[in-house]
Amino acid sequence: MLANEKAVNQGVAPVTYGQGERPPRGDYASARADYACDQNWSAYTAQEHDLYRRLYERQASQLEGLACDEFIEAVQHLGAPHQIPRFDELSETLRRATRWEVVAVPGLIPEEAFFALLAKRKFPVTGWIRKPEEFEYVVEPDVFHDLFGHVPLLFNPMFADYMQAYGAGGLKASRLDACELLARLYWYTVEFGLIDTPRGLRAYGAGILSSAGELRHSVCSPQPSRVAFDLQRIMRTRYKIDSYQATYFVIESFQQLFEATSPDFTPIYRSVRELPQIDAGAVLPGERQYAASC
Ligand code: PHE
Ligand code: FE
Repeated sequence: MLANEKAVNQGVAPVTYGQGERPPRGDYASARADYACDQNWSAYTAQEHDLYRRLYERQASQLEGLACDEFIEAVQHLGAPHQIPRFDELSETLRRATRWEVVAVPGLIPEEAFFALLAKRKFPVTGWIRKPEEFEYVVEPDVFHDLFGHVPLLFNPMFADYMQAYGAGGLKASRLDACELLARLYWYTVEFGLIDTPRGLRAYGAGILSSAGELRHSVCSPQPSRVAFDLQRIMRTRYKIDSYQATYFVIESFQQLFEATSPDFTPIYRSVRELPQIDAGAVLPGERQYAASC
């Protein structure tokens, strides 16, 4: 997810930490100019590793029938679930698979820094883990959301290329003052996307896959609307940041996602700006809905 406010104005003066010492949550002073910082793996406590294990096990036990196969197959690459992975080891595996790597960051980072990292096939992963009392829900993305939610699909070649293209597209959108429209694409695909499969709808979005409750809700609940992926429809649609999504967009394949987002967005941003915005949950006349599938 992207930073909007606080993080943006923090300095990035280099500060070093001793062996086994870890910067506090959101310590931007320890980040380099591109916002990458050291993971400082040895500073995680046994309790933090254990919290990661409990989060991992809760999510892993729910994946069958709800997460897409590509995610389920790749989740094993995160390594042993009993501890927070070492980012350098994970990067090595990921580099071999799709030429991606993960880099530690202090938390949410400014949009442009985020885009620049993605465009270089570097996925920023928050170093800190939530507190035990945030087991059910954490407001900002932590290491569990970033790793468990996002990294498995970076092992999929088509999705990996989509993420890089998104980064490059983000740098371009910054110049066109179109980040708000492009952010909706990220939200409704990378974070909350559903995919149709011969065995029914499945989740591929990281916000869903790392959430205790939204995984089942997104696939099974009769409440939300589920609409076929449509680039302009997505760019017009507002989203919820404090509740389960009221609308999900459904792709047919990662290839469809990649191809539908390949054209130059410059004229698309222009035409989307001419059209009315759509509220989360709204259904347009004649719009086909996907049924809940469990
Ligand atoms: N094709 C988009 C553009 O020209 C870039 C992009 C690709 C954006 C994939 C998002 C995802 O702006
Ligand atoms: Fe995310």
